[in-house]
Amino acid sequence: MKIAILPGDGIGTEIVAQAVRVLGVLDLPFELETALVGGVAYEAHGHPLPESTLKLAQAADAVLFGAVGDWKYDTLERALRPEQAILGLRKHLGLFANFRPAICYEQLTHASSLKPELVSGLDILIIRELTGDIYFGQPRGRRESPDGAFKGAPEAFDTMRYSRPEIERIAHVAFQAARMRGKRLTSVDKANVLETFQFWKDIVTEVHAEYPDVVLDHMYVDNAAMQLVRAPKKFDVIVTGNMFGDILSDEAAMLTGSIGMLPSASLNAAGKGLYEPSHGSAPDIAGKNLANPLATILSAAMMLRFSLNQIAAADRIESAVQHVLASGLRTADIWSEGTAKVGTIQMGDAVVAALSGNITKKAIKG
Ligand code: IPM
Ligand code: MG
Repeated sequence: MKIAILPGDGIGTEIVAQAVRVLGVLDLPFELETALVGGVAYEAHGHPLPESTLKLAQAADAVLFGAVGDWKYDTLERALRPEQAILGLRKHLGLFANFRPAICYEQLTHASSLKPELVSGLDILIIRELTGDIYFGQPRGRRESPDGAFKGAPEAFDTMRYSRPEIERIAHVAFQAARMRGKRLTSVDKANVLETFQFWKDIVTEVHAEYPDVVLDHMYVDNAAMQLVRAPKKFDVIVTGNMFGDILSDEAAMLTGSIGMLPSASLNAAGKGLYEPSHGSAPDIAGKNLANPLATILSAAMMLRFSLNQIAAADRIESAVQHVLASGLRTADIWSEGTAKVGTIQMGDAVVAALSGNITKKAIKG
C-alpha cells in the first residue's frame, strides 16, 4: 500500500506528522513517501505542484494531504499560488467526488456555536462536485485595459459550466451514498437564476429514476445555507456543485464545534482518493503546537476505509479518537471549561497510546 504524504504549508506539516505516527503503530505494510506541495514547493522548485510531486501522487494508491496556502503568496500570479496545487491534484487525478461529513461528537456538543439541542447527534454528509463548475470554467480571466495592462482592467470573468456526464456521475455517487445512510438526498442548486443549475437540477431528477428507494428534494443554495443553521439535523446527504459545496461544507463543519475535527475524501472513478482535513493551513497558528491533528488522523482512517480496504484499522483509529475525546483531552479549538488543553503533539501521543492499548487515564477529575 503506497501512500503519498503531502503535508504542504502552515499547520500542514504538524498535523500530518501526527497522522503518520498513527499509521506507524498499525503494523500494516505501508510504503510512505513524502513530497513538497503548495507554497513550500513553490519556494523549493518554483511551482506549487512540481512534476515529481504529481508523479508520486499518481503512482500511489492513496494520497494523504495536509493543507496549502499562506497570505504571503497572495500577490503571486494565480498559476503559481499554493491553492493551484490542490486544484491541480484534483484535476489530474480526476478526483470529482468530495465527501465532507459533518458529525457532531457527543463530547463536543458544547463547542458548537449553535444550541446543543440543534446539533446533538448531527450526522450529515456533504458531497461536493470537485472538478467542474466555475472553479474550472472556460473562459476565465481579466480583460486587459486599453494600454494592455491587467491593472485597471475593465472587467474580469469566470465561466460557470457543467457537462451532462459530470453531473450524472456525481449524482450517482450521491444517490449511492444516500442509499447506504438515511436514504434522503438534498440537491442544492440555484436553478431560479442560473442556467447551469437548472441543468443540474434536471439531470439529478433524471438520475433519481434509478434510485426510487432514495427520497430526493431540491433546495436553493441560499435557503440551504439558512436551513443548515436553523435545523441542520433535517439533512441526511447533500449533493451540490463545486462552489456551493465549498461554502456550505465550511458552514456545516462549523456546526459541529470545530472544523479541526472533520476529515474529507476526494475520490476518482477508480476509488483512488486524496484525503485531507476539511480545514486550511492556518498560518497564524503554524509551528506553535496548537493545531488540532484529529481531522487529519480521521482522514487517514477514511483513507484506510475507502482506498486501502483496511476497515478494521479504520475502525481502530476512529475508536481511539473517541476514546481520547472521552478522556477529556482537547486542543485549543475544541477546548471548553472542565477539559484538559493539550497541544498538537500531545493529542497525537494520546491517539497513539490509545491505539497501542495504553488506555489514557481520564484527564479530568470527577
Ligand atoms: C477547500 C479549499 C479549496 C477550495 C482551496 C484551498 C482551493 O477551500 O478544499 O475547500 O476552494 O476548494
Ligand atoms: Mg473551502
